[in-house]
Amino acid sequence: MAKQSKGTIGVLTGGGDCPGLNAVIRAIVRRAVMLEYSVLGIKNGWLGLVKGMVEPLSLLSVSGILPRGGTILGTSRTNPSKSESDMKKLLTNLKRLKIDFVVAVGGEDTLGVARYLAGQGVDVVGVPKTIDNDVEGTDQTFGFDTAVSIVTEAIDRLHSTAEAHQRVMVVEVMGRHTGWIATVGGLAGGADCILIPERPTTMDQICEVLQKRHGRGRVFSIVVVAEGFKLSTDGHLVTKDQKLDQFGHVHLGGIGEVIGKEIEKRTGFETRVTVLGHVQRGGSPTAFDRVLGTRYGVKAVDLIEEKKFGSMVSLRGNRITSVPLSKAMRRLKFVDPELVRTAEIFYG
Ligand code: F6P
Repeated sequence: MAKQSKGTIGVLTGGGDCPGLNAVIRAIVRRAVMLEYSVLGIKNGWLGLVKGMVEPLSLLSVSGILPRGGTILGTSRTNPSKSESDMKKLLTNLKRLKIDFVVAVGGEDTLGVARYLAGQGVDVVGVPKTIDNDVEGTDQTFGFDTAVSIVTEAIDRLHSTAEAHQRVMVVEVMGRHTGWIATVGGLAGGADCILIPERPTTMDQICEVLQKRHGRGRVFSIVVVAEGFKLSTDGHLVTKDQKLDQFGHVHLGGIGEVIGKEIEKRTGFETRVTVLGHVQRGGSPTAFDRVLGTRYGVKAVDLIEEKKFGSMVSLRGNRITSVPLSKAMRRLKFVDPELVRTAEIFYG
């Protein structure tokens, strides 16, 4: 006789994709089946719940996806809490599709909607995802380690060409509000100057660092800049255009060019700019992110089993634990000043 399901878990992945999403989905399904839940995959983030787009997930459908980048469920930046009618459709679809529990895998925006739904009585748990690593309620989001390893490899490659041509190489990396990728990637790659949103700086200070380095005979440099960095003298974000997504975010990009041009103009050092962009989010996750994603996915189902709704899985030290969604995103998690101090020792 077929076993009775303990209920249906709906899983969605929202916001910008990142390596490790499929590891989380696979772990959720494996753990859920073990504990006798059914699983429905919700397509394209919260949009799938508004539109009722789902597909059953089985052991077979998640087989072989652990090393794959992207997300088999698709993603979007849809924010249903902005529209009363979307929210109504979402709640109706939860009932119609007989989804008893929701696992929302996403960054601050997706998890913000999860927190809102928890307040509406939906049995939801969150899994923190973003290459930006800026979710307060966890020591590390999955995807960050992969992004850092891509940035590190890029800096290593830029080093040899920078040295051959005696150039300054400016590398623009992701990091909308925080400079985690820039700082950790820059440290790992031996950057000579790292510019992050947390530390607005002047062009004079940047050029001083480079001139000091060139003055001691190292006539090439690597400058890493996070896309959300602002010069303290003008305080403006550099954006691609004025369009906003549903969470009110502008499309960042271009600060590398601004900094690169100014460096060349002020110092006379030949300068080139590389924008790593979405390369940082694509492809196979590192071993660390596969394991972290797997641990998060298992824990998310365990939280449902323990009826700890309205919470988010979290890494604290080496342990997987949980934190209430209401406390997981009160503010952004900014780069640890100790890391910044360490990086600064290698400037110039
Ligand atoms: O997921 C976060 C992030 O990688 C930010 O660092 C970046 O600003 C943003 O996504 C860009 O996303 P998209 O181009 O997909 O809208």
